[in-house]
Amino acid sequence: MICFAFPEQAVLAASLGWPVGQWEWRHFPDGESYVRVHSAVQGQQVGILCSLNQPDAKLLPLVFLASALRQQGAARITLVAPYLAYMRQDIAFHTGEAVTSEIFAPLLSRYVDALVTIDPHLHRHASLEAIYSCQCTVLSAAPLMAAWIKEHLPKPLLIGPDAESEQWVAQVAKGADAPHVVLSKQRHGDHEVEITLPSLAAWAGRTPVLVDDIISTGGTMAKACGLLRAQGFTGLHCLATHALFAEGALEKLHAAGIEKIVTTNTIAHASNGMDVAGMVGRI
Ligand code: R5P
Repeated sequence: MICFAFPEQAVLAASLGWPVGQWEWRHFPDGESYVRVHSAVQGQQVGILCSLNQPDAKLLPLVFLASALRQQGAARITLVAPYLAYMRQDIAFHTGEAVTSEIFAPLLSRYVDALVTIDPHLHRHASLEAIYSCQCTVLSAAPLMAAWIKEHLPKPLLIGPDAESEQWVAQVAKGADAPHVVLSKQRHGDHEVEITLPSLAAWAGRTPVLVDDIISTGGTMAKACGLLRAQGFTGLHCLATHALFAEGALEKLHAAGIEKIVTTNTIAHASNGMDVAGMVGRI
């Protein structure tokens, strides 16, 4: 598969070992995007590597690139989006809200034949196929997390901060041969969450490892860490697949007393400590 990588994905693209497709994306003075494919793709399988954090800025160039590849005769276009955006608004929480997951998915499906992603935020949609009409492949970062925990922490206690995280934390716990608990969370706003933590006295002496798919504002992890510290736990670790890290998130997590934050490189970030290149390269 010839790989056309978005600029942010250059490091990941280089470690995939796929043939590199040359393309150009720049902005006209008025802000519009200019996209041009330079490599020959007639009859070829092509991949577009584009993690969809900050998706609004990437969607149009992505659509332009896919269309140009199709127009140049690409036989099959696979979008490799290690982080898939617009999965969390999967219901109208308030009257009049756009259910963006159900709008974004058909839009992308029009331009690509297949989608490969890692730990998509599936909550009320049972599968990607429920909203995407292209062929979908879902990879999991759980084995990477389990391996990281086994290598670094002798007596971990894995903690999912909310019900949605159960799907990830249970798999990681199994791979790491560690116990796990799942907390309950209520979100009151973009930055406001309330978490209920039962007594974890039975697990005293273990190292708490919070496991989630996404760190965005850091509110979820920070709140859970505060509660764990109040119960006397120390050496708190946070593991997440996608390092979205909105402004101020890292500072919030450090202020909450977290000892270490480790993420995968689905989104390039200083906290990256687990490499998805191997699993992506094998698709
Ligand atoms: C939500 O259900 C997700 O799994 C994460 O817990 C959430 O997106 C994290 O967001 P934040 O870092 O803003 O609390």
